[in-house]
Amino acid sequence: MAELGHEVLGVEIDDAKRAALSAGRAPFHEPGLDALLATHVGTGRLRFTDSFAEAGDFGDLHFLCVGTPQSAVGLGADLTAVVDAVESLAAQLTRPTLLVGKSTVPVGTAARLAERMAELAPVGAAAELAWNPEFLREGFGVEDTLHPDRIVMGVASERSEQVLRTFYADAIAGGTPVVVTDFATAELAKVAANAFLATKISFINAIAEVCEAAGADVVDLADAMGHDRRIGRAFLNAGVGFGGGCLPKDIRAFLHRAGELGVDDAMSFLKQVDDINQRRRAQLVQTATELLDGNLVGKRVCVWGAAFKPGSDDVRDSPALWIAGQLQLGGAKVIVYDPQAAHTARQVYPTLEYAGSSIEAARGADLILHLTEWQEFRELDPAEVGAAVARRVLLDGRNVLDAPAWRAAGWTLRGIGRRPA
Ligand code: UDX
Repeated sequence: MAELGHEVLGVEIDDAKRAALSAGRAPFHEPGLDALLATHVGTGRLRFTDSFAEAGDFGDLHFLCVGTPQSAVGLGADLTAVVDAVESLAAQLTRPTLLVGKSTVPVGTAARLAERMAELAPVGAAAELAWNPEFLREGFGVEDTLHPDRIVMGVASERSEQVLRTFYADAIAGGTPVVVTDFATAELAKVAANAFLATKISFINAIAEVCEAAGADVVDLADAMGHDRRIGRAFLNAGVGFGGGCLPKDIRAFLHRAGELGVDDAMSFLKQVDDINQRRRAQLVQTATELLDGNLVGKRVCVWGAAFKPGSDDVRDSPALWIAGQLQLGGAKVIVYDPQAAHTARQVYPTLEYAGSSIEAARGADLILHLTEWQEFRELDPAEVGAAVARRVLLDGRNVLDAPAWRAAGWTLRGIGRRPA
């Protein structure tokens, strides 16, 4: 927002994160973000505080960007942070303002928050709420924020719409489409989009299982399907499945909310989407065990990748780490290498061994698993890796390595849903 020319005050209640941000450093890895932070903390256009009173005094517009993780006691979303932030801020709103919700929330949340604001805000009805979900992808957060592919405005008044249109004027002038709607539709637009993306991935992963049974090739098949403009090639990459802080918990929260609304039958397929995704991970552990002659005990397994996807150090619900953990539980010695996520992975799985490079992780390995498709793994020399390992056996859980090149260097390479070599 500072890059777009606005004066910005960020509220962060975690002392360590606020200190990092105030020093121009992001508390997580996101390409391009550190440079932007450093620039705008430097110019003074971006500052951080822990004070809601200061924020209330400062802002004409407030963006609510806190997390909505899966509840500790069920499938639903934990809205504690959202409610706390809105209540803390609302009590400080003494002049006309628009509070804009960005967080992914169960449908119906915005209407309840608007009521709560009306009760708490000293300025009364002049403090309004709008719902404007973000659709940014980790690893492309900066790009997706500066150049969104759509802007969804869930509003309750013309004034709110005008404020948002002014705020997003550059993007709108640049051609970004705008959908103006009510709170409930805006909330659903986010969860429905994520549910659709998750469904696409689980669909192709289910097809990958059929391909394996039938001796067909899921990559050729996804290409063939993707040429149909109504389908599109994106999100048809079969592999170890989806993870991260969004897709898994969003489909569960959606299912849960559909149940509360009495339409669980309509959304019951999402349970299968989740099941297919979990099964992929378990099957990969099984295939790895088979490639190790049915016995994991004492075997050395190299895992390339720990983040849930490349370009991020996020390991929340990461398929790669789950698989690494399971193989270790089965008795294997597991050595993990990830270009960015070792520090976050270590916090979740401190007992795994972490190497400083792809080759170091591969040294003496009986099996290599490629589970997060960082570009640097694609650039490895099969002969050089071959000289480091005990056995040239590689399982490509993302179907992106150059299989003919690895096989030509003497490797046994297996993919997911690929035609047997
Ligand atoms: C997602 C949505 O894409 C984004 O719009 C929303 O705002 C937040 O949630 P993100 O969690 O960053 O973004 O990751 P995404 O790129 O969607 O990937 C999710 C998972 O699906 C990753 O684990 C990825 O490896 C996996 N994936 C993606 C596949 O397995 N196959 C694919 O074809 C695409």
